[in-house]
Amino acid sequence: MNDALLRTEQLSRSYGSLLAVDRVDLSVREGELRSIIGPNGAGKTTLFRLISGEVAPTAGRIWFRGREVTGLPQHVVSRLGIAKSYQITNVFPHLTVRENVRVAAQGHTRSFDFWSRADRLVAVLDRARALLSTVGLERKADLLAAHLSHGEKRHLELAITLAADPVLLLLDEPTGGMSPEETDATMLLIRGLAAGRTIVLVEHKMKLVMKISDRITVLHQGQVIAEGTPEEIRANVRVQQTYLGAWR
Ligand SMILES: Nc1ncnc2c1ncn2[C@@H]1O[C@H](COP(=O)(O)OP(=O)(O)OP(=O)(O)O)[C@@H](O)[C@H]1O
Ligand SMILES: [Mg+2]
Repeated sequence: MNDALLRTEQLSRSYGSLLAVDRVDLSVREGELRSIIGPNGAGKTTLFRLISGEVAPTAGRIWFRGREVTGLPQHVVSRLGIAKSYQITNVFPHLTVRENVRVAAQGHTRSFDFWSRADRLVAVLDRARALLSTVGLERKADLLAAHLSHGEKRHLELAITLAADPVLLLLDEPTGGMSPEETDATMLLIRGLAAGRTIVLVEHKMKLVMKISDRITVLHQGQVIAEGTPEEIRANVRVQQTYLGAWR
């Protein structure tokens, strides 16, 4: 497919004799919300690390916006518009919520766009405020990040990831460890984010995945074993066998 925003061809990564990602062909359209599901150890996080340039593939190729990005370092891939949030929370606990986002926004504001330092500072603060509002944390702006609940920390992390204004957002288990209420709030948030960008989501919570995804790719032992709409995936016998009643 030539109109894909992201495309991988036979993408593979081995660790010794283990094939963590095994000849994955993936094609994600612009504006799509794609979920990647699969049992523990299926290769989901490794696939993200390959796409984001954190880890080099042992075989295969990756294209983003028609440009080959295989083997490019992470900071270059990030500048091209791919941002990844981590499975594990990654915020500065001893900074306030606002400071965490401000530092991130500052890193993505180009100084030559502004006449003065003061103008730049105002722009960065405006951007930080907008990001906090996007993730629903404006009222917590002055708290130390350490004092946020787990769910709020994950939302802060999302705001930090969004500071780069990515074209493609890779979310690795954004609701991991969250209460049902926090999970619902995060689902709404992801839906909102999906309106303006392309998202690839790794998630174990099937109800959420079924509700939110345009298409779903199923990984098992590093390989794609199914791909389709939520309805198609739900009805897929091979997927049902792989999950053995894990559908809740
Ligand atoms: N740096 C590494 N060195 C050795 N093996 C690794 C490394 N990273 C991942 N693996 C192995 O590759 C396989 C895929 O791991 P990965 O973390 O991608 O799975 P996952 O689908 O994200 O699982 P989970 O749902 O538990 O997060 C696993 O068997 C894992 O142990
Ligand atoms: Mg993982």
